[in-house]
Amino acid sequence: MNEDLKSTFQKLLEENILDRSGEDTIGRLTDLFPAEVCFSTSFSMEDQVITDILKNHSGIKIFTLDTGRLFEDTYNTWTLTKSKYKVSIKAYYPNQEELEPFIQEKGPDSFYTSVDNRKACCGIRKVNPLKRALKGNKVWITGLRAEHSPDRENIQQLEWDESNQVIKFHPLLFWTTEEVKNYIKEKQIPYNILHDKGFVSIGCAPCTRAIQPGEDFRAGRWWWEDASKKECGLHVHK
Ligand code: ADX
Ligand code: SF4
Repeated sequence: MNEDLKSTFQKLLEENILDRSGEDTIGRLTDLFPAEVCFSTSFSMEDQVITDILKNHSGIKIFTLDTGRLFEDTYNTWTLTKSKYKVSIKAYYPNQEELEPFIQEKGPDSFYTSVDNRKACCGIRKVNPLKRALKGNKVWITGLRAEHSPDRENIQQLEWDESNQVIKFHPLLFWTTEEVKNYIKEKQIPYNILHDKGFVSIGCAPCTRAIQPGEDFRAGRWWWEDASKKECGLHVHK
């Protein structure tokens, strides 16, 4: 239990350090925790905006969780991002000692057959690599947005992540889709072209589909499951 970090987090909340664009808060967090702030990117529109904002802040580690099942368009976005920003993006991979027996026993696409199998796959391919990525960091920046799901409407922009024992910051939590799109357009930021084909929230290829107008933003994620189960365990909110 990281009580010191948790009490620093409480003090930051009392200081009310938040600003809408997230820029000042990022500055404050990197001053407080130099070399201990990281940002996870899935190369979504939101994450692309944050990568652009981070060019003004040095020392923040950028990482991605390469599940091995991402869309080709996501890999293309990764390549374009690396080339535009000349940043180092560290990729974390599933542990082969966990993945190989899992696939041998269940087959490659067992996520369609039960929620337990789906969660086990997300555990091996995303959640466990995330734990490794967060080691040695005190602040984790993400691209979560409130508009994406009713559950995400209730989270705090700066929050304590009990399961990972880090301070979590979501700079774009209150940005609208339009604001995100305008930022991308204005700054000519490379983005995943699946966003132009009806994909809103993009994860692994076999578990993500485009949505129809009017559908919930996360309707395209694990669409065969009950809506209440649709989180992969990266972001746990009680
Ligand atoms: S998820 O929990 O459903 O998978 P979502 O796709 O909404 O998450 O993305 C929310 C945020 O989680 C992203 O902005 C990013 O910070 C982080 N994230 C999600 N997937 C990945 C990934 N594969 N690699 C790194 N970060 C990710
Ligand atoms: Fe596995 Fe699908 Fe989860 Fe990706 S989203 S880790 S393929 S279950």
